[in-house]
Amino acid sequence: MRALVTVTHPRQNSLTHAVMNRFVEGLQQNGHEVDLLDLHRDGFNPVYTLEDDRDWINPDKVHGPEIRKEMDRILAADTLVFVFPLWGYSVPAMLKGYLDKVWNMGMFEKMNAKKVLWICLAGGEQAHMDKYKREETLAHYLNILISGYARVKESRVELLKGTLHQSEEHVIGLLERAYRLGCEYE
Ligand SMILES: Cc1cc2nc3c(=O)[nH]c(=O)nc-3n(C[C@H](O)[C@H](O)[C@H](O)COP(=O)(O)O)c2cc1C
Repeated sequence: MRALVTVTHPRQNSLTHAVMNRFVEGLQQNGHEVDLLDLHRDGFNPVYTLEDDRDWINPDKVHGPEIRKEMDRILAADTLVFVFPLWGYSVPAMLKGYLDKVWNMGMFEKMNAKKVLWICLAGGEQAHMDKYKREETLAHYLNILISGYARVKESRVELLKGTLHQSEEHVIGLLERAYRLGCEYE
């Protein structure tokens, strides 16, 4: 299987990057091929421009080279994996910009063959994420509202909670979980 792994975090030594690296190690251990997109490092422009807006509803719209390149990377992958921190109970603006621009109308009829995994790191602990159905709401947003709207075949969320925990043991546990997710990913 070929996985397009997209990581979103401005800091290369972030826990988000460490989780992504362990997940990718697991995927490779499992024999999968990985294409890595690091939105900040690779300089993706998340601002939705006038050019993006022109004729956006037309699935046959001809996109500029930056967007076309990212659309082709999706087409070449069997599965799309996003690793990102929870910011304001949503995806960071960088990732939202990527989704608005790259998951465009021209992709929708081709996304029904793709699987999507959202690996989200949250500062909140379990009890915090349970309150007001925060975890459930996030899963609904990502799986139904974002993936579902794009006609994705299968979408799931793995929420890594309590990332602000100071204990080394907790962080090691999160990294181990990321590695296992990669090893067991089908
Ligand atoms: C701008 C910003 C917004 C955040 N919003 C939330 C939030 O809504 N809920 C939450 O549980 N944690 C929130 N956090 C905490 C992040 O989820 C946490 O810093 C991240 O999971 C830790 O990973 P990192 O070390 O890779 O940044 C926020 C952090 C930042 C910087």
